[in-house]
Parts: sequence; C-alpha cells; structure tokens
Amino acid sequence: MEIISSILVILILQLYTVSSSITSVYLQTRVFQEIQTCENDYYHHPISEHQVVSQIDCSRLCTSVEECRQFMFDKQTKLCSLFEAGENCFSAGDIQHKVCYRQKSVCNATKCSRCPVCYYGEQCENIIVDCQDGHDRSVAPINSGRRSFIQPSANGPVIEVLCDFKWRKTMIMRRITLCKEVNFNRTWNEYVMGFGTIHGEYWLGLENVFNILQNFPTTNKLNILLKVGYKPISQSHYRDFDISNDSDNYTVSISGFDNGTTGDSLTNGIYSINGRPFSTYDRDHTSHNCPGRFSGGWWYLDNPICSRANIFGRRSGDTLESTCHWKDNLGLETNFTKINMVLRRW
Ligand SMILES: *[C@@H]1O[C@H](CO)[C@@H](O)[C@H](O)[C@H]1NC(C)=O
Ligand SMILES: *[C@@H]1O[C@H](CO)[C@@H](O)[C@H](O)[C@H]1NC(C)=O
Ligand SMILES: *[C@@H]1O[C@H](CO)[C@@H](O)[C@H](O)[C@H]1NC(C)=O
Ligand SMILES: *[C@@H]1O[C@H](CO)[C@@H](O)[C@H](O)[C@H]1NC(C)=O
Ligand SMILES: *[C@@H]1O[C@H](CO)[C@@H](O)[C@H](O)[C@H]1NC(C)=O
Ligand SMILES: *[C@@H]1O[C@H](CO)[C@@H](O)[C@H](O)[C@H]1NC(C)=O
Repeated sequence: MEIISSILVILILQLYTVSSSITSVYLQTRVFQEIQTCENDYYHHPISEHQVVSQIDCSRLCTSVEECRQFMFDKQTKLCSLFEAGENCFSAGDIQHKVCYRQKSVCNATKCSRCPVCYYGEQCENIIVDCQDGHDRSVAPINSGRRSFIQPSANGPVIEVLCDFKWRKTMIMRRITLCKEVNFNRTWNEYVMGFGTIHGEYWLGLENVFNILQNFPTTNKLNILLKVGYKPISQSHYRDFDISNDSDNYTVSISGFDNGTTGDSLTNGIYSINGRPFSTYDRDHTSHNCPGRFSGGWWYLDNPICSRANIFGRRSGDTLESTCHWKDNLGLETNFTKINMVLRRW
C-alpha cells in the first residue's frame, strides 16, 4: 500500500533549528529499493549529498536548504542525501541502514514558510482535493514535478498521486511496460483501497476515485491515454464518467465518447460497460469468470466477451484475453507501451 503513505508514518521527529523561532517537522516514510528502468526516474536523484554526524544534523541541513523536502540518512556511512519532493526515498543499494524523512512543515509562530506539495494555508492546514484543484488555487508547481498529495474527502486519507497540473489531470491509473510489472490480479479490497506505487504502475483505488468524483459530481470526464511506441499519445475520451459507492459495487456510468484516436472500446452497443458493477476474482459480478480470464478487476460485462478492452490485464499473459489490450468497436487493436487513466473536469 505504498500510495497511501500517511499510514506508513512511524514517528515524528520534531526539532528546532538554529534560529530557535523556526520549527521543522519531519515524518518518517519508507525507503524504496530503486525500481530499474522506469521512465521519469529523475526524482530519484538527490539535490546534494553530505557527510554528517547524525540524523538530526541531516534534518537541519534539509531545513537550511530551500528546495529540500525530504532527506535520507544512512546510519552506517553517515551519508545524508537531500531530495526535492515526494514521499519516499530511493536507493540503488542496500536499504537496511537507511531512514527517510519527509518534511511536513517549516513554520515560525505565525506562518509556515514551507509546506508539502499542494498543502496550503498559514499553517499548511489545507490540502487540494484533486490535481485540478491545485491548478485552480494556484498552489501547484505547474512547471516542475507531477507528484502531489491530495485529500479527496475531508475525513479520508491523504494520498499521493501523479498530476498533470498544466492540463489539470488527475492520474488514477498508470501502466508502463518499461517498469517492473505490478500484479493487477487483486482482491476486491485491494481494488477498493488502491495498490502499486506512483513510481511505477498503480491503481488509485475505487474509494479514492469515488471521493474525487463526489467533489464535483456533474462535470467529470475520463481520458484513456495510450502511448504506442514513439508515436504521439493516442486517446479515447469520454465526456461523462462517474462511479457509484461501495454498497452499489462502484457501478460505472460512462458516456459521451468524443471521437478519440484509439476508438471507442467502452460504450459501443453490446460492448458498453455503462451501468456495470466492478468485479474482481473474489467478488465476481459476472457469470463468466471474467476477472479470472482477464487477470484483473474491471467493470466487466455480464456476457462471455467480458470486455472489449483489458487495460488491467497482464503485460504478458498466458492467453490473449488475459493480456493487456485495447480493441475498438471495429475490432482494431492498439498495441501500447503506456496507458494512463486520467480524470478532468470541464
Ligand atoms: C514568520 O514568518 C513570516 C514569513 O514566513 C514573517 O513574515 C513573519 O514576520 C514571521 N513571524 C515571526 C513571529 O517571526
Ligand atoms: C450508495 O448509492 C446508492 C445509489 O446511489 C444510494 O441509494 C445509497 O444510499 C448509497 N449508500 C451510501 C452508504 O451512501
Ligand atoms: C453488490 O455485490 C454484492 C455481491 O458481491 C451483492 O450481494 C449486492 O447485491 C450488490 N449490490 C448491488 C446494489 O447490486
Ligand atoms: C471524428 O473526427 C473526424 C475529424 O474531425 C471527423 O471527420 C469524423 O466524422 C468524426 N467521427 C465521429 C464519429 O464523430
Ligand atoms: C488471480 O489470483 C487468484 C488468487 O491468487 C488465483 O487463484 C488466480 O489463478 C489468478 N488469476 C490469474 C489469471 O492469474
Ligand atoms: C499487436 O501486437 C501483436 C503481438 O505482438 C501483433 O500480433 C499485432 O499484429 C499487433 N497489432 C498491431 C495493430 O500492431
């Protein structure tokens, strides 16, 4: 459950910097063994590295560097690495002796001068509800960085997500063939909570998607973006997208296919998933073992076809149907190397 990072917080390290009127709060998070060959891995690289005496010195160093938002300390070698943003630290080597802390805030008595990305307010007390909110409130880093914290429901968890702030998109799902494959053959509960990591492949979770959609109930659209080799991004675009709640099995409501370049796979005639509940292998709402055959969860049809598209399938499956694919209403198939599901309001 890497994406639901607040759960991973183990202890709070609170300290006063030299000026003694400034309080920096750091939260401990996970250290990741670096996943090789993922794209966009620029964020793994530290701003700088220093030899220090203790963990506290490392945190002081981070407080003193304006761009620093997290640090990693190696207890054995006493190496202190400063990072710009994000929830977790990465290491190519052994992570056993390493600890990672992310900055929660740097504040004086009245005002915070640093908050985590997309937290805002005098005391960093507010968090954006989705990526578009970050854009609209002008609290998002438009030109750098795509990782952000969001809190879709006021009392729900703070989650980490990939954003496209410029185009106001919240990425709810991501597959990349170059990354280490994440297993999408998961239980109902895992599909509800989310799984994977934003550093590779992930699904944000039905409950989180539901909460994002609840904030602006009438204006959500879904883009399914497929990257085919080195060609420009292709997409299929649905103007109206919504899902219902848990007790309604997250039934999907989808329409308004908008002439995308990869065709309509989801709302055409007998292939339309509109009105279908979500299914997983342990909560199958089809009578055709669709989650088992397609090796994932989805709003499968209740007929032997199961679905025209299988974007939650395996990247290399045992059978054709269990393998990731996107077929349009005419049966034309798009072979993709990347696929994203993104939400946007209009
Ligand atoms: C707190 O910091 C803000 C700027 O971040 C500054 O304007 C203000 O004077 C500081 N207040 C105190 C009490 O130091
Ligand atoms: C879930 O959604 C259904 C259908 O919209 C509604 O009748 C029901 O009250 C909702 N349940 C909860 C717990 O919100
Ligand atoms: C949701 O699914 C469960 C079984 O998984 C079923 O008992 C229940 O009736 C479904 N709810 C609705 C509203 O269809
Ligand atoms: C899709 O767009 C193209 C070019 O704009 C247009 O020629 C075509 O008729 C459109 N197709 C549909 C189904 O709207
Ligand atoms: C999915 O996972 C379940 C439970 O581990 C397993 O029984 C099933 O064979 C898996 N399906 C596929 C297609 O891998
Ligand atoms: C997609 O990939 C499969 C298997 O590699 C291949 O047989 C098929 O021709 C490809 N389809 C297209 C449209 O490129």
